[in-house]
Amino acid sequence: GRDVLRLADLSPDDIVQLVQLARDLKQIQKLRIPFEPLKGKTLAMIFEKASTRTRVSFSVGMQQLGGHILELSPTTLQISRGETLEDTARVLSRYVDALMVRTGPHDRLESLAEAATIPVINGLSDDYHPCQLLADLLTLYERFGTLNGLVVTYVGDGSNMANSWIEAAALLGFGLRLAVPPGYEPPAAVLEWGQSEAKSRGGGVYLTHDPKEAAVDADVIYTDVWVSMGQEAETEARLTAFAPFQVNRLLMQLASRHTVFMHCLPAHRGQEVTEDVIDGDQSVVWDQAENRLHAQKALLLSLLANPS
Ligand code: CP
Repeated sequence: GRDVLRLADLSPDDIVQLVQLARDLKQIQKLRIPFEPLKGKTLAMIFEKASTRTRVSFSVGMQQLGGHILELSPTTLQISRGETLEDTARVLSRYVDALMVRTGPHDRLESLAEAATIPVINGLSDDYHPCQLLADLLTLYERFGTLNGLVVTYVGDGSNMANSWIEAAALLGFGLRLAVPPGYEPPAAVLEWGQSEAKSRGGGVYLTHDPKEAAVDADVIYTDVWVSMGQEAETEARLTAFAPFQVNRLLMQLASRHTVFMHCLPAHRGQEVTEDVIDGDQSVVWDQAENRLHAQKALLLSLLANPS
């Protein structure tokens, strides 16, 4: 099947078309026009980790397009008794039309996708979060009309979100500044690839350890949780290292009055972002969350309406 495990599984043209399709689907939904091209199609979802947005937006999106959803709990599948993920993927490929999976190790997702004969969508792995990026790009197009000349500042660690932003800048050629604490940089290979690709498309990827420097004149300030699922043992060290990287009123003032604040959510108010910033008029976090629905509907439609 055609898989979307990371943004780089899509071409720049694919991404631009998906975002346009998402805008059209958003309009169709606002006008309450029935549109059910996925009648008779089934999406199965396996969550090995907690989720609110991904779970609900995929479910509702699939239903709005006329399709069905099957949510499979890993604890009630035979995976829990030792059946391999690969065999599970082979079997599910005989029953359903696409599979959305949230898991930890990215290579676990890759093996599963290799065994499956239907499209597999990454609903968040330790390394990438392509669905979030599609929604974020939709949000940026809505706010700015274009990505040309845009500067996005990402404040946080070299996580799945940072990796995904690097891929977005690489593929679409905008400016990305990463402000990360020393020792929490994204993988060198991802960074170097992103830097050369972004440059070849008129953008750039810049890494710094100074959030203030990265914030000056940025169009977007983006942050993410300091302690992700699975990193609980590192909580104390992370809270100390990340304290100077909080997105607060001061950092937003270094940017500009027009700078947009973004967060993939869930947020930890008082840690990576202050209450006044996330609830302030520069914040677009609820639009981002809503856009998960529209962006994923576009993705489902492109994968399932005309399967290749
Ligand atoms: N942003 C995001 O993926 O949210 P959930 O973890 O709630 O799905």
